Amino acid sequence: MNKTPTPHIAAQYGEIAETVLMPGDPLRAKFIAETFLEDARLVSSVRGILAYTGLYKGVRLTVMASGMGVPSIGIYSYELYNFYDVKNIIRIGTAGAITDGIELRDIIIGIGASTNSSYAEQYGLKGTFSATASWELLSAAVEAARESGAPARVGGLITVDNFYDDNFDNTLAWSKMGVLGVEMEAAALYCNAARAGKRALAICSVSDNLLTGARLTVEDRRSSLVEMITLGLDTAVKIENE
Ligand code: HPA
Repeated sequence: MNKTPTPHIAAQYGEIAETVLMPGDPLRAKFIAETFLEDARLVSSVRGILAYTGLYKGVRLTVMASGMGVPSIGIYSYELYNFYDVKNIIRIGTAGAITDGIELRDIIIGIGASTNSSYAEQYGLKGTFSATASWELLSAAVEAARESGAPARVGGLITVDNFYDDNFDNTLAWSKMGVLGVEMEAAALYCNAARAGKRALAICSVSDNLLTGARLTVEDRRSSLVEMITLGLDTAVKIENE
């Protein structure tokens, strides 16, 4: 039985492409659609979560916002994979650096996402699930970064439920495990992809450094985001042509 439209997405079945680029911010989805896509059409705007489908270098893509945090990306990515038959979701977001050697503007390609969220408890696993990126998307992103010269690093992310943490040592503990950056969505996305037998990748531009307190200026943030968005788009094209 076709379950579209869903409670949270107004698009008809078929109006969403096989590959979805997913920024957190709805206005960033709009910016990407208007700046990079040809023939972009708004296919959903429920709760202000804008989704556009159009063409990039001839490849049909959807760009749709996830909102912030595990519950939000959990809902949207679940419905996209399971009800719209989406195959690939590439999160393009920001992360805070928590490890020496990661610079502002670097792009972290998340090979795995540890988490303090209880999201994976629903699966009843007798142990800890390793939420990992899909190899096909990860290797395509690495190749695209090599070609464009984007300052990308492959490494681990920590997906947290709390942007404001009462105890900074909680964050530093992940740093001691070699985790590169902190963000709030990748682990839920990777879990949903695994459970649905689909593919996922999180690419995060480093917007701030939690060790030094450094932050990107508004202008640097914008150009760094464009570099990451381009990497996400080029990754989508590579997997389409694989
Ligand atoms: N915490 C959580 N998510 C983030 C951060 C942070 O410091 N920076 C960018 N995304």
